[in-house]
Formats: sequence, structure tokens, C-alpha cells
Amino acid sequence: MLLLRAAWLLALLPVGFGSANAIQRSFGIDYDNNHFLKDGKPFRYISGSIHYSRVPRYYWKDRLLKMKMAGLDAIQTYVPWNYHELKPGLYNFFGDRDLEYFLQLANEIGLLVILRAGPYICAEWDMGGLPAWLLEKESIVLRSSDSDYLAAVERWMGFLLPKMKPLLYQNGGPVIMVQVENEYGSYFACDYDYLRYLQKLFRHHLGDEVVLFTTDGASKSYLRCGALQGLYATVDFAPGGNVTAAFLSQRGSEPRGPLVNSEFYTGWLDHWGHRHSVVPTKTIAKTLNEILERGANVNMYMFIGGTNFAYWNGANMPYSPQPTSYDYDAPLSEAGDLTEKYFALREVIGRYKSLPEGPIPPTTPKYAYGQVAMQKLGAVTEFLDDLSPSGPIKSTYPLTFAQIKQYFGFVLYRTTLPKNCTEQTPLFSALNGVHDRAYISVDGVPQGVIERGKSSVINITGKAGANLDVLVENMGRVNYGRYNNDFKGLVSNLTLGQITLVDWEIYPLDIDSVVGYGLNSRGSESKISGGKSSSYAAPTLYTGRFSIPSGIPDLPQDTYIRFPGWTKGQIWINGFNLGRYWPVCGPQVTLFVPSNILVSSSLNNITVLELEHSPCGTQKCAVEFVDKPDINATLQYESNTPKLFTKDLWLDPL
Ligand SMILES: *[C@@H]1O[C@H](CO)[C@@H](O)[C@H](O)[C@H]1NC(C)=O
Ligand SMILES: *[C@@H]1O[C@H](CO)[C@@H](O)[C@H](O)[C@H]1NC(C)=O
Ligand SMILES: *[C@@H]1O[C@H](CO)[C@@H](O)[C@H](O)[C@H]1NC(C)=O
Ligand SMILES: *[C@@H]1O[C@H](CO)[C@@H](O)[C@H](O)[C@H]1NC(C)=O
Ligand SMILES: *[C@@H]1O[C@H](CO)[C@@H](O)[C@H](O)[C@H]1NC(C)=O
Ligand SMILES: *[C@@H]1O[C@H](CO)[C@@H](O)[C@H](O)[C@H]1NC(C)=O
Repeated sequence: MLLLRAAWLLALLPVGFGSANAIQRSFGIDYDNNHFLKDGKPFRYISGSIHYSRVPRYYWKDRLLKMKMAGLDAIQTYVPWNYHELKPGLYNFFGDRDLEYFLQLANEIGLLVILRAGPYICAEWDMGGLPAWLLEKESIVLRSSDSDYLAAVERWMGFLLPKMKPLLYQNGGPVIMVQVENEYGSYFACDYDYLRYLQKLFRHHLGDEVVLFTTDGASKSYLRCGALQGLYATVDFAPGGNVTAAFLSQRGSEPRGPLVNSEFYTGWLDHWGHRHSVVPTKTIAKTLNEILERGANVNMYMFIGGTNFAYWNGANMPYSPQPTSYDYDAPLSEAGDLTEKYFALREVIGRYKSLPEGPIPPTTPKYAYGQVAMQKLGAVTEFLDDLSPSGPIKSTYPLTFAQIKQYFGFVLYRTTLPKNCTEQTPLFSALNGVHDRAYISVDGVPQGVIERGKSSVINITGKAGANLDVLVENMGRVNYGRYNNDFKGLVSNLTLGQITLVDWEIYPLDIDSVVGYGLNSRGSESKISGGKSSSYAAPTLYTGRFSIPSGIPDLPQDTYIRFPGWTKGQIWINGFNLGRYWPVCGPQVTLFVPSNILVSSSLNNITVLELEHSPCGTQKCAVEFVDKPDINATLQYESNTPKLFTKDLWLDPL
């Protein structure tokens, strides 16, 4: 009602003189006439999702302009808490994380912003955006009234929301609405006190005028725990279903007010080892038209998906991590390319409003820099002094990543074999306790891989006293459902035969810093084919250099990198962590390389951490830059139609 009063006041004031205008900007809800009110006038938005954390800052303007030119009124973005508060009280809002700059750009381009401030965001983002350091309290109940959780939320929101306040629409900024929590009705806790707490906290920092809202799956069962009096309830649903029925579910919570689909899916997410998701343009265009026809508001999720750089991808249960590409089959590709879907949806939008005039920024050119020869630097274990400068943490039983305060990447667990294993001896992770993938060697000789949910035992051989190295990769924390408390590392004991292994030396590996400073080759003899099985080598670092050709205008340009003969690992270019590659698994085979990380003034440095098996050794060994993406490889998949998590169900009933 406060919102209405603001709009009503505005109507009484004379408009159009000088600075008073800025003060009179208003955005609210007209419950009587079932629409939004912007500056006192009926307003409907057509919006698209872009996550600034998945697009390099260098390209923010390009992508926002393309969204503007598609006819969008607004963008919607998530704020990933863990992307900004790296450790309790340690904040990063610089460079690619400069949220305020991103919002100002949107403002300058003439796009409104629907801000999904969290604290939880899902988003196929590590732990749904919640910081992994919350897990230092092991029993924490996330997304609930747990007092430690609330204390962390209060501190974070006390930092974030005051930054956002000047960017609210009524304060001259682009932000018209702020989402509280995210799809809370899909979470088991159903803690209304928690939602009420957030509502109060958001109001305290942002004031009474801003429209606060919630988003839930379009069914009564989701809205039951997701909606709260005083937060405007919106829904999300996929194309191809019954739009009337979907909006009826919103009406169950909001009998009056604007109809809003906050996530209208233009595509769908991927998982390693499953087919690339493709949603036909025709289906989306048809349903978009049905939504717009009835005057409803819509946000297309995603309008551009972008990239899970570094370690930022999430995972679903049963444990299944998402790949580096978050292309999403969206209207703008991962690389920001204009697609046939873009133009089809623009055409639908054009039936309902006049499209902005002027040129659409073109698709950026891509360049095939070709092959780059790679050399071995050395096994990870040869760099322990650099990678783990403060040395190992000693513990009788294994500790998790959170316990040693390393949240991402890789940790090496080392102990010695307590007995002679001349025969094949099973090394066993009871309770599926390898989170998420362990690369195991004995005195540098690779033995095999244990993987969460896939394989919990391998046979090893070795002498008593030999070093048993278990390099554990965190492949991304669960971002959805009740499994958010996703501890990483060895989360239970390993046994060798009947013996529980003890006396571990745990090396947190700070590969990212070390790659940034540069690594020198250890010049060691290759143990690459030393394993009993030639399909594994101990995790090893490689390097290569390439220059950008001179005499060609407009280089460096965007490119894609391929890994012929490589298996699984992580790659950095000039110290920038591009993400994970796993071409033998698919569906993603190439990684997007944005031009802004390349230099033409000197050599570009590539660092690769290959976890399983590289083509180096006898064969030619290279990575290759190509000018076309391949995120749709048809390799061997576990099943044709993954039914991985309940969100999939939203696609069915409509
Ligand atoms: C769509 O849902 C509405 C409301 O439940 C129903 O009346 C209508 O028959 C449905 N349309 C189709 C094509 O199923
Ligand atoms: C392991 O085997 C070696 C001989 O190969 C023997 O000398 C040693 O005592 C054995 N150690 C244990 C702990 O059994
Ligand atoms: C381990 O070796 C034993 C004995 O050779 C064999 O029966 C078993 O299948 C092997 N297990 C694995 C996981 O390879
Ligand atoms: C390992 O086993 C010991 C002894 O049974 C137990 O006290 C400890 O909690 C276990 N550690 C983990 C991480 O499961
Ligand atoms: C590549 O590595 C070399 C040697 O470490 C360094 O001098 C150079 O600055 C690096 N290039 C870039 C673009 O980071
Ligand atoms: C992906 O591959 C499938 C099967 O070959 C094909 O139907 C689909 O059109 C491809 N999608 C893209 C985006 O290339």
C-alpha cells in the first residue's frame, strides 16, 4: 500500500521541472488494475537474465546493448554472495566483480534492473551462491533461522544492500525490484521466520518503497513455503505448457496485481556426461507470445548464459556437476553471439512494443590461433613447496576443505602405506566419502580414480611406507535442494583392506596464485607411463606459449580452446582461470576464451593441470585454438533423458 501511496502522491505533484524529477521517480504495484506502476503510469516489463559473474567485465556493455536492442526493458541478475565475500568479512567488488559498475552501465544503456539479491540464488552456481565458509559450523542449517547463518546473512546484507540503495529506481538508479531468497518453496526447511527476518532486513536497508518479491515454481506446493505476505509472489515456468494454468498458481498467492514469470526458460542447463540441452526456438516464441498477449511480465532465463569460469559451477543430486559453459541454449550464445533464437524472440517482442532503432552490435569475430605445443612442468607433488608454502596440516583422520579453510580447487591428502600391498589391495571410501574425485598414486605411480557416486574402491599395490597420495578435486558444490551442505575433500575415512588409514598430511594447494606468479619446470623424468594402467598418470602441470599474429587487424579476438588427446583438468591463460575441461566426458569439448585475457604485446602463457592423462610423451602434445565452439558433442552418455533433479518436473506438468 505504501507503494501505491507514493505513486498517488506523484500524480498530485506537478512534473517536468528540473531536479525535482529525480526525486519523483517511483515504481510500485497497482493491485486494482493488475499491473506495475512506473512513474505513476501502467507498466509491463520484458526482461532477460544476465549474470555479471559469468561475463567478463570487458563484455558487459556489448551484452547489455544486445539485450537492449532485442527490445528488453529490463535485465535480471543474481548476486552470488560467495563471489563477493571470499572469507568472513573480506569483500571483493573489483574488476569482474564490480556490481555497482555493472548496474550503472545498465542504467546508462536504458535498462531497468531486477535484482535477485539472495542470500541463496541456486543459479547452477557453487553452493547456490552461499559461501562455503558457512560450513565451518558443521551442523549449520542453511537458509533457516539458524543463528550463525543469520549472523552471516546480516553482516553480508549490511554490506551489500547499502551499496544497492542509491541504485534503486526511486533514487535515480535502475533497480525496480529486489528478490528475497530464491525458490524458497522448493527447500525443505519451510521456515517462515527466516523469510520474515529477511523481509525486515531488506526493508531496513532499502526502505519501504522498493518492491520486494519472491519467485517459486508455478504450483501451489512450491508457493506454500515460498510466498510471504508483504513480498510480492511471482512464479517461474517453462515454454510449451499451459500459461493460463501456470499464472493461476500465482493467483493462488496474489489474487490481484501483475502477472509475472520470473524465469521463463529459453533453454536449459547441462551436466557433464549428459546430452547438451536444446530447447527449440519455436516453442519458446509461441509461449512468449502467449505470455505477452495477456499483458503479463516476463523475464527470460537466460538471455545470455555465459561461462562458469574457474571453479564456479554448481552441481545437482544425485551428484552431477555442471560444465564450464553456461551457454544455456540462450538467445545470445555463451560468447554473446546473435542467434536465430535472438532474432525470433526479438520479432515476438516487436509485436508488443516498438523496438529501439539503430544497429545491433554484431557478433564478435572469432580467431583460430591454431595449435600450441605444450611441455611438461612436473607432477603436482613436485611443486608442493610452491603450491602449499605453509606446509601440510597434520591430522589423524582426514579433514574437509572447510576445516582447512580452502574452499575451491584441489587438496592433496598424503599418508604412507601401513603394510606391504604386494597383491592388489582394495582402497575403499566407505560412505561415498570422496567429494568429488580423487586421483590416487603410490610413490608417484598412478593407481586410479575414486569418484563420488560412481566408484568408491580401487585396487592398489605398493610397499609399506610408500607415499599414498590422494589428490581430491572439488568439482562444484550442490546448488539445489537439501544437499547444500556439501562438504569437500575426504569427508569420511579411507580404508586399505581392513585398515583405516590414519596420520594424514593435508596440503591445501593454492594453484591459482602460483600460476599467476609463473612456474618453472622441474625437469624431472617422466613417470607418465609408469602406472600399471596406461590410462592414468599422476596429476601434472604443463605449460605452453603463443603469440598473437601481427599484421592482422583487430587481434586479439575471442577464440575457443580444444584439448585433443587430453582427458580432464583445469586451464589458465595468463593467470586467468578459464575453467574445467573434460572432453572425454562431454558434452562440452571446447572452452570459450574471451579476447580480453589475451595480449598481443608479449607471449601468452597457458598452464594446464591434467589430472588423468595427457597426450604428451611419445605423441605430439598440444592444445588448439579454433574459431567454433563445440559444446554439443555426442559421446557416450549415461542416459538420453536425465531426470536429475526435481526442477525438471517443472517441464512436465504444464
Ligand atoms: C489450461 O489450463 C486452464 C486452467 O487450468 C484450463 O482451463 C484449460 O483447459 C487448459 N488448456 C489446455 C489446452 O489444456
Ligand atoms: C614388506 O616387505 C619387505 C620385503 O619385500 C619386508 O622387508 C618388510 O619387512 C615388509 N614390511 C612389512 C611392514 O610387512
Ligand atoms: C581388485 O582385485 C581383486 C583381486 O584381483 C578383484 O577380484 C577385484 O575385482 C578388483 N577390484 C577392483 C575394483 O578392481
Ligand atoms: C574416522 O574414523 C575414526 C575412528 O573410527 C572416527 O573417529 C572419525 O570420526 C572418522 N573420520 C571421518 C572423517 O569419518
Ligand atoms: C608469461 O610468462 C612470462 C614468464 O613468466 C612473463 O614474463 C610474462 O609476463 C607472461 N605473460 C603474460 C601475458 O602474463
Ligand atoms: C546438438 O546435437 C543434436 C544432436 O546431434 C542436434 O539435434 C542439435 O541441433 C544440436 N544442437 C546444437 C545447438 O548444435
